[in-house]
Amino acid sequence: MHTSSPQPRLLVTRAIFPDVVDRLRQHFEVIDNPEDALWTREQMGDRLQGCAAVLTTPSEAIDGELLARSPGLRMCANMAVGYNNLDLPALTARGILATNTPDVLTETTADFGFALLLATARRVTEAERWLRDGHWTKWRYDTLLGRDVHGSTLGILGMGRIGQAIARRGAHGFGMRVIYHNRSQLDAATEQACGARYVSRETLLREADHLVLVLPYSAGTHHSIGMAELRQMKPGASLINIARGGIVDDAALARALREGVIAAAGLDVFEGEPQVHPDLLTLDNVVLSPHIASASEATRRAMANLAADNLIAFFTRGEALTPLNPEVLTR
Ligand code: GLV
Repeated sequence: MHTSSPQPRLLVTRAIFPDVVDRLRQHFEVIDNPEDALWTREQMGDRLQGCAAVLTTPSEAIDGELLARSPGLRMCANMAVGYNNLDLPALTARGILATNTPDVLTETTADFGFALLLATARRVTEAERWLRDGHWTKWRYDTLLGRDVHGSTLGILGMGRIGQAIARRGAHGFGMRVIYHNRSQLDAATEQACGARYVSRETLLREADHLVLVLPYSAGTHHSIGMAELRQMKPGASLINIARGGIVDDAALARALREGVIAAAGLDVFEGEPQVHPDLLTLDNVVLSPHIASASEATRRAMANLAADNLIAFFTRGEALTPLNPEVLTR
């Protein structure tokens, strides 16, 4: 008599598109979280018991301690391109495959970086608050004067896929002079396609009118931008962070914005999010958004489907589309 082997158990830690969960149910015994409860570490550890796979979002930390409690785990699919929430060395040491969702979100995230850049430079959200508050009684030559984007200098710190997509928008769409700093310099053809020139970190800080942060978070990039760096920037400059909270020292930034060290900031990510440093909430010269740079309908769907495709590929064929530690596939 044929007995089919049981499906591997998959924990989906947060609410995601229901049709993607339905697709996963064809291959896994799914434990999901449609009510989107925020589990404690303890609850997460309990639910991981007996699971062969987990689908995470950037809010869930998967570390060695949790892994030690989950001996059956074989794969972690992160629904994000950033994966600082995963302890990758610990996953790799245990032979657990990790995947992320690169490429599908590059252009959408770059669009949003530019939206924040424009909104920050031209004071869009501040202007709307002012109008809604009833201050608009007459046209005035000096109402809400902002800073130009076209023709200015765009600085990019971190020149991966998203940094390059932002550079292309700046150079080709807005006629900006684009400079960047990165761990390594891009090849000449890529630099040319992006219209971007490699400079030292110091030059980047000193010359950018609009500085966009697009570097991954790690212990090494923690507080890459603090008061010392902000003081190297132009007083008229704006800072845009679409990378990760913790790359900027938010308390120092709030002080710099209050004291006019730099002109303005646009922030999509925060230290300790969803908490936002209370001083930032009181300032008019900062545009705030709740970690939504990749949040177009099409792109969030593509991210969920890529996470699902990775899970299905691994459990049906022993492969992965976007592995972070491909070495575990060949062990
Ligand atoms: C979102 O923050 C991501 O890393 O994809």
